[in-house]
Amino acid sequence: MKRKVITALLAATMVASLAVGCGNKGGDSKSDSSKSSSSDEITIGFSQVGAESDWRTANTESMKSTFSEENGYELIFDDAQQKQENQLTAIRNFIQQEVDYIVLAPVTETGWDTVLQEAKDADIHVIIVDRMVDVSDDSLYTAWVGSNFKMEGQKACEWLNAYAEAKGMKEVNIAHIQGTIGASAQIGRTEGLEEAAKEYGWNIVAQQTGEFTQAKGQEGMESMLKQHDNINVVYCENDNEAFGAIDAIEAAGKTVGPDGDILVMSFDTTNAGLTDTLSGKIICDTECNPLHGPRVEEIIKKLEDGKDVDKKAYVEEEMFAYDDTVKSVKVDDKDYDVTKITQEILDKRAY
Ligand code: AHR
Repeated sequence: MKRKVITALLAATMVASLAVGCGNKGGDSKSDSSKSSSSDEITIGFSQVGAESDWRTANTESMKSTFSEENGYELIFDDAQQKQENQLTAIRNFIQQEVDYIVLAPVTETGWDTVLQEAKDADIHVIIVDRMVDVSDDSLYTAWVGSNFKMEGQKACEWLNAYAEAKGMKEVNIAHIQGTIGASAQIGRTEGLEEAAKEYGWNIVAQQTGEFTQAKGQEGMESMLKQHDNINVVYCENDNEAFGAIDAIEAAGKTVGPDGDILVMSFDTTNAGLTDTLSGKIICDTECNPLHGPRVEEIIKKLEDGKDVDKKAYVEEEMFAYDDTVKSVKVDDKDYDVTKITQEILDKRAY
C-alpha cells in the first residue's frame, strides 16, 4: 500500500494541478477517488511451494480466501512446483512489481540469503510461512509462522513407544519415508525419529524420500518391501506418502492396521488422512496445521498499524489415533493428549 499510495498521491496531485490549469472544476474527481480506493489494497506476492499434497491444497485455500479482493488485498500467487529456482524468480518478480509484502513458503531451508537481501534492499517486508529459512542474518525476514516439526516427530515417536510397549511388540522395524530433503518438515520429523530410534532401540531398516507426494511414497514403499521382509512400522512424513505406502503394502499382499502386518504412521491430519485413521489404515496421525492465512494476515495488520510482531510463532497442534491405547504423550515434560478419532470429530474438522 505504501508504495502505491505514494504513486497514487503523486498522480492525483498532477491531475489536480492540470485540472486547475485547464479551468476544470473537478469533473475527474470520481475516477481519482476510485483510483485511490483501489490503491488502498495491500498487494501481497505469495510464493507457494507447489501442490504436492492435500495439506498444501488446504494451505493455498487458506491463503487465497484470506487475501481476497473483498478483504482488501491483491494477491499475486505463484506456484513454484517444488523448485527453489522458481521461488527465487517469483520473489524477484514481486520485488520488481513493488508489492507491499512478500510471503514465502520455502521449499527447503537454505539458499535464501541473496534474494532476501534484495527484498530487504527494496524495503519490502518478507513473512515466512510454514517451513523455515536458514539464513545468516535474521533481519532478512520480518516474521515466521509455522509448525514445530521436530516436536511433531517427537510426539509421534512417544506415541509409537507407548503403543509398542502396550502391545508387547518385540521388535520395531521401521521403513522411513521422508519428505523433501532439506525442508524443515523433513528435517524436524526425521530428527524426532532418529533420536527416538536410538533411545528406544528401534531399527530403521530403510530410509527414502517420498517428496511429500503419494506417487513417490508408493514408489519408495514398493522398493523397501522388496528389500526387507521384516518391516512392521512405516513412518511417513505426510499423509499423501502414507496413502501411497498403503497402496504399495496392499499390492504386495500385506495388510495394514492394528491387526495387520504393518502399522502406518503419518503427519498432517488432513480429511483423507483422518479418514484412514478412522479405519486404522493409518494408526496414528500427528497434526500439522495448514490454516496459515489468518495468522499471516494478523502479522500484516500489526505491521500496517506500526506494531511489533513476534519474530517466530509456533502453532498449536493435536494428535489423533485409531484407538485409545495411548491417551497422551509427554515431550520435554509437557503432556499432549491423543484423541481417538471418530466420525463426529472428522465431520467438524476445518480441513
Ligand atoms: O511443510 C509442511 C508439509 O509440506 C506437510 O506436512 C506436507 O504435507 C506438505 O507438503
